[in-house]
Amino acid sequence: MQRTISVSAPGKLMLYGEHAVVYGHPCIVTAVDQRLHLTVSQSATRRELSVDAPDVAVTGYKKPLEELGKGVIPKGVRFVEYAVKNFIDSGRVLRSRIAGLHIITKSEFASTFGFGSSSASAVCAVKALSEVLEIHLSSKEIFEISYKTVLDVQGKGSGFDVASAVYGGTLYFVTGGKIISPLAISHLPLAIGYSGVKADTVTLINKVAALSKENPELVNTIYTAIAEIVEKAKWAFEKEDFEEVGRLMNENQALLSKLEVSTEKLDAMIMGARGAGAFGAKISGAGGGDCMIALHDAQGKPAIENAIEKAGGEVIDVSTNAEGVRVE
Ligand code: PMV
Repeated sequence: MQRTISVSAPGKLMLYGEHAVVYGHPCIVTAVDQRLHLTVSQSATRRELSVDAPDVAVTGYKKPLEELGKGVIPKGVRFVEYAVKNFIDSGRVLRSRIAGLHIITKSEFASTFGFGSSSASAVCAVKALSEVLEIHLSSKEIFEISYKTVLDVQGKGSGFDVASAVYGGTLYFVTGGKIISPLAISHLPLAIGYSGVKADTVTLINKVAALSKENPELVNTIYTAIAEIVEKAKWAFEKEDFEEVGRLMNENQALLSKLEVSTEKLDAMIMGARGAGAFGAKISGAGGGDCMIALHDAQGKPAIENAIEKAGGEVIDVSTNAEGVRVE
């Protein structure tokens, strides 16, 4: 008999603390309402994983369950394959209970935006497998298996994107999930601009690591200053002091520029947004491309979006604070 489960997880936007969060500091991340969808069907056929992920050019991929994680794995399938492997290796289910698994993924957002489609697909795979096999996993267990998956595939990363896909909302997060704490935020009005350039997170992490090797004192001072901004931002969110929230975004951006992860294009979009009345604006995520965010008041959005477009950015319309992984 075939059993099918569909789940979805949100994309994410980093609000404060990128890069420093890789090295033991906190960050703040919000989940966005564009989602990654994943369907898993379990059937009694041969013990093999098959994957169709048309958004990332994967069709008809097949691998025996015993060989998961081995051999050449196409880029578009790595996170899902390792997530399935790590779920099985977690020992939460008898191997003999798992037969043919067919997984299909579909995203509401382009994988180029930097919204975290890879982490969301790992989280969805773990959640869907637990549901299809009727194994209860806590959110923390889903986080742990999915975070291991991210480290297996890309070697580096704080896990903030995994936590966002699992828990949703807006989170205060410390490296590796040492602290995952939801922030009570009623609204978070952001204008978002895509730079048109796909950034590779690991390349940017390595770039900052090289700068840190050259000048450890400078980089550590920047990380400490970023951590202080995150603490102040947490407080400002709690008080709903959006002027302060915006000002802290600008401060965070100045420090990210010192880490040399902003680009001319992102700077132009950020300056445009500020000039059009944003409370604050900064890059979101590793930098080198992807998106910038700008915080606005009730009326400010159209002018800010105009300014982002004038600077050559593509405006993306999403709401923040979205729900975490869920069964559809
Ligand atoms: O580029 P993104 O959205 O994947 O964000 C990366 C943020 C970093 O702090 C640079 C890396 C991480 O895993 O925290």
